Amino acid sequence: MVRKIGVLTSGGDAPGMNAAIRSVTRIALNNGVEVVGVHNGYRGLLEETFEPLTRSSVSDILDRGGTKLGSARLPEFKEPEIQDECIRNLKREGIDALVVIGGDGSYRGALALTHKGINCIGLPGTIDNDIPGTDFTIGFDTALHTCVENVDKLRDTSSSHHRCSIVEVMGNHCGDLALYTAISCGAEMVITPETGYDELEVIERLRYLGEAVRKNHAIVIISEKICDVDALAKKVTAATDFSGRATVLGHIQRGGSPTPTDRMLASRMGEKAVDLLMEGIGGHCVGIIDNEITSMPINEALERPAKSRKALYRLFDRLV
Ligand code: ADP
Ligand code: F6P
Repeated sequence: MVRKIGVLTSGGDAPGMNAAIRSVTRIALNNGVEVVGVHNGYRGLLEETFEPLTRSSVSDILDRGGTKLGSARLPEFKEPEIQDECIRNLKREGIDALVVIGGDGSYRGALALTHKGINCIGLPGTIDNDIPGTDFTIGFDTALHTCVENVDKLRDTSSSHHRCSIVEVMGNHCGDLALYTAISCGAEMVITPETGYDELEVIERLRYLGEAVRKNHAIVIISEKICDVDALAKKVTAATDFSGRATVLGHIQRGGSPTPTDRMLASRMGEKAVDLLMEGIGGHCVGIIDNEITSMPINEALERPAKSRKALYRLFDRLV
């Protein structure tokens, strides 16, 4: 029987994490289960920074970006001795189950704790949309809105000055944020880990757009960690009709008030996490698949092949 549930946020923060904390807290309290917030991800389990959560302590956070509990990365958490210490601390606090909101690294930690006797449920919280076992992660939609809003602004000034804007977006080896932004903004090119990168091809294409199509601007959306966008912008200026400018959207993508879609997703997923724990299930992660809230063992999710985005890349190609 579950009497006290802990909740923590781990890894890079994402808009909607607060909505998930609120949902877990309110659903659990309404089931007669106490809730404890753990500060700063797994670090809080080690340092025992616990905070009892009440109905009112999660008021006024639904619309806030970031995470009320703080987030952190704790590489040592992979060590079994550190995990054992965290299990002892959880037991001393009387916490018998835990909701972990984070990415796949955080899921691995949740699975380890489950194997050591504390049932954990993982909720996918990241702007990257790179977590297996779900079509969408909490935070992705808000980050996408931020990207779209900013790229729309860049297009205005790019058109006025016959420029090529090269816009770097986050994604951590996943091209979704770039691809969805590119389609939503009508970008001329998208470069992601899935498309691969060939500098000569990029220059050729921009030459064609500037000289043959005579476009007055070009927007190139590129995933982070692919190339030096400032250097690419200089090459564009030197080798094409456009003057190139690079913009790195950076951590602005991680903040801001979550969209209604993210608030809904977080609220639905939080509910599912508590229901699973109340049923005595641990080591699972929650997802949304074909608009249904689902769950599956974390092991199974982590072994799943990455989602295919072929149809969306084809759509992008057919729209340019
Ligand atoms: P994310 O959860 O967003 O993928 P990280 O990969 O940084 O972010 O992982 C967040 C935290 O999860 C790490 O700092 C670490 O505390 C924990 N973690 C990551 N990988 C493992 C693992 N293999 N085993 C146990 N804990 C892990
Ligand atoms: O995972 C979220 C994310 O924002 C990635 O998109 C990015 O690569 C990384 O975190 C940045 O991490 P940090 O906050 O440590 O700079």
